[in-house]
This record gives sequence, C-alpha cells and structure tokens, in this order.
Amino acid sequence: MRKIIKNIYEVGAIDWDRRLFDKLIPTPDGTTYNAYLIKGSEKTALLDTVDPPKSDTLFNNLAKAGVEKIDYVISHHGEQDHSGCINEVLLIYPEAKVVTNPKCKAMLMDLLQTEEDKFITVEDDQTLSLGDKTLQFIYTPWVHWPETMSTYVQEDKILFSCDFFGSHLATSSLFVDDEGVVYEAAKRYYAEIMMPFRSNIKKNMERLAPFQIDMIAPSHGPLYDKPEFIVNAYKDWISDEVKNEVVIPYVSMHESTKLLVEYLVEALIERNVAVKQFNLASSDLGKLAMALVDAATIVIGTGTVLTGAHPKAAYAAVLVNALRPKTRFASIVGSYGWGGKMVEQIQQLLVNMKVEFIEPVVVKGVPKQEGFEAVDKLADQILTKHKQIGIA
Ligand code: FEO
Repeated sequence: MRKIIKNIYEVGAIDWDRRLFDKLIPTPDGTTYNAYLIKGSEKTALLDTVDPPKSDTLFNNLAKAGVEKIDYVISHHGEQDHSGCINEVLLIYPEAKVVTNPKCKAMLMDLLQTEEDKFITVEDDQTLSLGDKTLQFIYTPWVHWPETMSTYVQEDKILFSCDFFGSHLATSSLFVDDEGVVYEAAKRYYAEIMMPFRSNIKKNMERLAPFQIDMIAPSHGPLYDKPEFIVNAYKDWISDEVKNEVVIPYVSMHESTKLLVEYLVEALIERNVAVKQFNLASSDLGKLAMALVDAATIVIGTGTVLTGAHPKAAYAAVLVNALRPKTRFASIVGSYGWGGKMVEQIQQLLVNMKVEFIEPVVVKGVPKQEGFEAVDKLADQILTKHKQIGIA
C-alpha cells in the first residue's frame, strides 16, 4: 500500500515474473496491476482490482489501509487483470456496489457472472460524490476494449486512466523516476495493444484536452506526476507522421533470403534510410511492434515452404495486419526452390494495411547478380517513395 496524496492510495500488486499477456504479448519487464483506494469524507471507493493470482496482495493492502467498508468499486474496464477480483471484493465487502458504464456492466456479467443487482451504472461525464472528493467518469472507449472509461478526481486533478497511458513495467517506484525506461515500456504497450485503435485514441486525447490533469494514474506501470511526458509521447505515436525508416522482419531457412535482406539493409543505409532488421526465428515480436509505430515502410523477407510463405513470416504478417500500423509502403523479398505463391499469400494476409505495395524481389535459389540488382532497385524505389512524402 502506497500513499499517492492524502486519502488516495495505490493498493495493487507488482508482478515481477509476468512474461506474456494473452498468451501472445511479450512483457519482458513484468508489469503491475494498479488498484487505487480513495477515502472520501463520506464514502470510500476502490478503483479497479488486480489480476486474480495477485488477490492476496490486494486484500492485504486493504487490510493495512484499515479499510472496513468499501462503498463503491469503480470498474473502468472488463478485462480480468483489473476486474478479476471484483466478486471477491463483493464477498468481503458485501455493501459495496460496482460502479461502471452499461457496456462494462454487461461484460462483467458475462465474464465474471457478477450479479445484476450489484451494479450502479454511470453515463459519460456523470459524477459521484465521496464527500470531499468528486469522481467524474469519462468514457474513453477502445483503449483497447470498447467499454473502457477513466475517472477524474475533480478536487485533486488526477486522471485514473486504466490501460490508457499504461506501461508493462514491474517497478517499486510509485512515480516515473527514469523517463527513458518508462518511455520504452509505454511505447511497447502502445504498440502491442493500442496501435490498432489509433483514431479512437486521438478522439480520447481530444476529449481529455480541456481537463487540467496534474497526475495520470494508469492501471499498469508507474504513475505520471509530470503527465506531459506521456501525453506528448502519445501525441507523437498517434500522429499521421511516419519516419524515414524501414522495418524488415524476415525468416530464412538456407540463407538465400538472408542474403537479400542483408543486401537490402546495406543498400538502405547507403541511401540514408534508417533500418530495423528482425530475424523472426528469434526476435521479440514486441520489438517488431514498437518499430512499426513510426516506420514508413515494411519489407517482409521469407523463403518458400510447401508452396507458401514460411509460417513464421505468415505469423508476423497476421500480427502486423492486426496491429494496423500507420506504415505507408510495403514490399516482400524472398526466394523459392521450384515455385509457389508466397508473395500473393503475404499480400492477402496484409489486407487491413492501407499500404502501397512496391514491386517485390523474389529469386530462384541463391540470389545472383540479377537478384541483387533488383534489391538495389527496391531500395531506390523506397527512397523515392519516402522523398515523395517529404521524409527523406
Ligand atoms: Fe490491463 Fe486491458 O487490461
């Protein structure tokens, strides 16, 4: 239990060991599940809970805080890493009501089977008084589920933003103490979870703009006592601007594709285009997602397996397609032994990407002079495209 300001505490848990979310998303730095206790002069509210395996920590913290009665459990988001202990809270504090919006209520009834009479629903902008503290609920949908909302404490000018602005970073620091470290973790979090909803996040940022926010308290990672740091980072990530960068995820079985990729990387560097190369056989896919936050171009490298793309390249293409980065151009390099449809397959897997495809380079067997010349041409075309949009 850690005091944030008078009568507002962080009562959640640090998960130093978490390495994967949703059996998909790498969290190499662990995470925290922040829950907050607000003791008003008349009522007490708990803002979210923790992931169920960490419930002991939450209830020990509430005991340490001397909490005998909880009037309201504010549920910002239905996902179980924040909502998963709500039913346990209701058992231990039976007078508590779950305060949330109608969409989140429906989700909690679906996911946790919470009883309907336990809920109080609130509309966008509605307030709830705890006595000397007023909670204002602000709908901030699609960060990253449709029901998510935030709470603004009017008297203290603190925004409790749930997943929005969060970072997967296990740390004993309550507040950001190293902006470089948190920037990296928050960018990873944005890339892995928020990026597909960039336009919704823009709307939410506009919605929050009129509020004076002195502190942002997310549900993962440290709190921002200088919120402009994370707000400015988000403004950059959600902007329509792309950078003079090419991301090259590739997989190569017998080194032919690797030769093409390495030649392309050098050719781009010679043309002053930044490159990020990822070997899909061993790379952290979170790093690939982060690179796609800014890059203007993606080039997927793959050999041919059983007439199609290598499954690791297909997996990366499915992931990229789901993350919907603002990437403007795409191409493919690779090789084949006797035939196949790997170009068509990768292009089909990128169906959600609003990209212009640049002529791919596909060679038979080991690349020869002709193949390398085609890669030079590809590098030229990428540079031309970047110049056309004013970034090179
Ligand atoms: Fe941290 Fe979407 O839950």
